[in-house]
Amino acid sequence: MEVISSVEELKSYLKDKGVGFVPTMGALHEGHLSLIKQSVSQNSTTVVSIFVNPTQFLEGEDLDKYPKKTEADLKICELAGVDAVFLPTISDIYRDNELIIKAPTIKGYILEGASRPGHFDGVLQVVLKLFNIVNPKYAYFGKKDAQQLYLIKQMAGDLFLDVEIIPCDIVRDGDGLALSSRNVYLNPQERTKALALSKSLKRAGKLISAGNRDVEKIKSLCLEVLKDVDVEYFEIVDYEFNTIDSIELNNTIVLVAGRVGTTRLIDNIWI
Ligand code: PAF
Repeated sequence: MEVISSVEELKSYLKDKGVGFVPTMGALHEGHLSLIKQSVSQNSTTVVSIFVNPTQFLEGEDLDKYPKKTEADLKICELAGVDAVFLPTISDIYRDNELIIKAPTIKGYILEGASRPGHFDGVLQVVLKLFNIVNPKYAYFGKKDAQQLYLIKQMAGDLFLDVEIIPCDIVRDGDGLALSSRNVYLNPQERTKALALSKSLKRAGKLISAGNRDVEKIKSLCLEVLKDVDVEYFEIVDYEFNTIDSIELNNTIVLVAGRVGTTRLIDNIWI
């Protein structure tokens, strides 16, 4: 496995290869591994990037304490059959006073974008750069970051990028907690409280399976499960992130975000 930090070196290594790409911020877990495995099984060359992207963190967020496990990450990639890991520094990626990508005014600034204004500007900025460096045929993103996935797909379409975005299922621990690099911040009591997020979504799923379609009713019943969580939003939207009044099967996402202690967590289910 190659470990490359120079943009030019990576570009020349990848020249004319059909690449599957998994962009990450490191601290890899089973969720990342499932994206990596999918890419390895579908492409002759898989590249994983590990870059904690400063422009997607807001002032006061966890940029400085974001978990770093580079050695373990490289081992995971190697064992999974990754061909190259791109491990750039901030100055390899960013320049002073550079051109800025803006997330779309509405869908980039609702839900996650309302809680973290500007977050998606930074995500799109770095993902576009990474796509231009790696030039992947396929790029793999987890459905856990549902809005990110939607906006990256939109960017690929709007900017006529020659990449297919592959959505990958959420991976959960046995007790239902969606895997996240930020779960390491939770102490045992907080981890138990955090289960309320997946439980609220499970309740939504059950209500919908039982025939409930009224979005406001489902929201209010699910919020009951979240009393120990400082909820930022519990919302139900269609696959295009439009608000809806009534559940439409195969076109609905139920999303929740909240804080347990100081840790901010998100989760969702696709109906
Ligand atoms: O989902 C993530 O880990 C990040 O937002 C991404 C896509 C790697 C961009 O920094």
